[in-house]
Amino acid sequence: MKAIILGVNADRGLGGQLAKRFAKEGLEVIVAGRTLPSLEKIVDNIRQSGGKAVAIRTDATKEKDVQSLFAKAGEDLDLAICNVGNNTPGRIDEMSAEYFEESWRVCCFSGFLFGREAVKTFSKKQKGTVLFTGASASLRGKAGFGAFNSAKGGLRQLAQAMAKEYGPVGIHVGHVIVDGVINGQIVKDRRPDIVEKIGEDALITIENIVDGFVYMYKQNKKGWTFELDIRNSIENW
Ligand SMILES: NC(=O)c1ccc[n+]([C@@H]2O[C@H](COP(=O)([O-])OP(=O)(O)OC[C@H]3O[C@@H](n4cnc5c(N)ncnc54)[C@H](OP(=O)(O)O)[C@@H]3O)[C@@H](O)[C@H]2O)c1
Repeated sequence: MKAIILGVNADRGLGGQLAKRFAKEGLEVIVAGRTLPSLEKIVDNIRQSGGKAVAIRTDATKEKDVQSLFAKAGEDLDLAICNVGNNTPGRIDEMSAEYFEESWRVCCFSGFLFGREAVKTFSKKQKGTVLFTGASASLRGKAGFGAFNSAKGGLRQLAQAMAKEYGPVGIHVGHVIVDGVINGQIVKDRRPDIVEKIGEDALITIENIVDGFVYMYKQNKKGWTFELDIRNSIENW
């Protein structure tokens, strides 16, 4: 059986660790994202550990890319995770229309393109799991984050609509809210100031998030979770 993980770059990113874990769980993993050399590194690593994986360069905002990704996966697909997301801070009065639209394309529209192809594939066999990665932004607006909040909020509503529309035909749709900063490559590379400010102990461990995805994937339809929220014990929420 196969899994697609879309939104992968760094090995120590959530996408990279989801790919490795589901390969360990015995799935053949299609590792997808925009940066092929990064995807190939993860695929090599999975293969060296005895797992099965393939890298497919995919821009999640391009309809043809997403359609071709699912076509390559074929009927044996059992799990599809849309982990795509980039934070887009900024005040509304200083924000260009292009910036807002691009944020929506990456964090929300990509979920529609991905979810549509996933439910088309899974509807045929009336079975399959589609999971989306959310953030604190999925549940609330915050000053300085209007673009990101609205896009992730939209993604959550889309996921909930899909869960209700396709649950009755056997497709499990879920949403995982990551409520806080992930202790991964992105924060280390792009926002080392955050780690310095809140301290490493206040970050969320990637493995704990990955466990949540695995838990949801393994559920049977007599007891499905739509949403899981994960945060550090000292998070102020
Ligand atoms: N990092 C955090 O602290 C944090 C906190 C809460 C929630 N989240 C959410 O968790 C998820 C994973 O975050 P992460 O920080 O660990 O990063 P990650 O899993 O390593 O990677 C997420 C990837 O999404 C990719 N992406 C952006 N635009 C894309 C597009 N058009 N097509 C394909 N892929 C695209 C980015 O790829 P590129 O590298 O090519 O841009 C990025 O690497 C995201 O949904 C994020 O919103 C993250």
